[in-house]
Amino acid sequence: MTSLHRERRCAESIARLAGRHILRERSQEVDISLKAPDDLVTNVDRSTERLIVERLRESFPDDRIAGEEFGHEQGSHGGEGERTWIIDPIDGTLNFAHGVPLYCVSIGLQIEGQTRVGVIYDPNRDEMFSAAEGQGAHLNGQPMAVSDVDGLAPAVLVTGFPLGDTDYFEWTMRQFDLLTRRSRGIRRLGSAAIDLAYVAAGRLDAFWEYGLNPWDTAAGILLVTEAGGKVTAINGSPFSVDGPSIVASNGHFHTALLDALQSVV
Ligand code: IPD
Repeated sequence: MTSLHRERRCAESIARLAGRHILRERSQEVDISLKAPDDLVTNVDRSTERLIVERLRESFPDDRIAGEEFGHEQGSHGGEGERTWIIDPIDGTLNFAHGVPLYCVSIGLQIEGQTRVGVIYDPNRDEMFSAAEGQGAHLNGQPMAVSDVDGLAPAVLVTGFPLGDTDYFEWTMRQFDLLTRRSRGIRRLGSAAIDLAYVAAGRLDAFWEYGLNPWDTAAGILLVTEAGGKVTAINGSPFSVDGPSIVASNGHFHTALLDALQSVV
């Protein structure tokens, strides 16, 4: 295993470039369309993904790249030691399209299916959240850690609402009701990657959601674990970026949170 130093530095600098591109483009007219009912995409998501893919391709020509908007770009680095960059050019597209400044660029590197580098950049606040496996998590170069809140009652939680009229939506509404009563409060920010970065930075104590995609979580899960937190599925099994659910917490009340979430589904 390499030190991942180069990969992390490159991901940070590409995320920063992408963030600047998003802010520049935001001042022009943004072209918004629907890629599925309730699921927006903009011309800026697409141009940002192109920029990220080009830069990654220059630095790591053999790696695979999987992006939210254009799917998989095949590299030759399959099989043993397989390396795949998983990118979300704008996580929080709905916020972006409506001028709400809560969105980010998310870039994760998975090696043999495990995230080893994770970078989330919030261009509106110029905040770079970054981690490499075994090397801790950092916010703008300073070490960051999860909170030490030890129990549901004093915890501030965050979640997202799954798209469509599904069981996931029904369960989330019931969980939202229960946990609003049992915790200090719940936030709904509209960017799963920012939710994970904020749990890693100790700003929020736990996050849960159903139905996310690999590009929403690939980078953020490493931030949380490297910052000392815990990530599982809602049923307590090991987390997979292929879903169907995620619970990421500071680790101190993870079991209590899982019990509460499971009690209403
Ligand atoms: C969305 C955000 C949101 C989550 C949605 C995602 P996108 O990602 O992460 O918080 O609730 O499920 O699709 O579409 O803005 O990249």
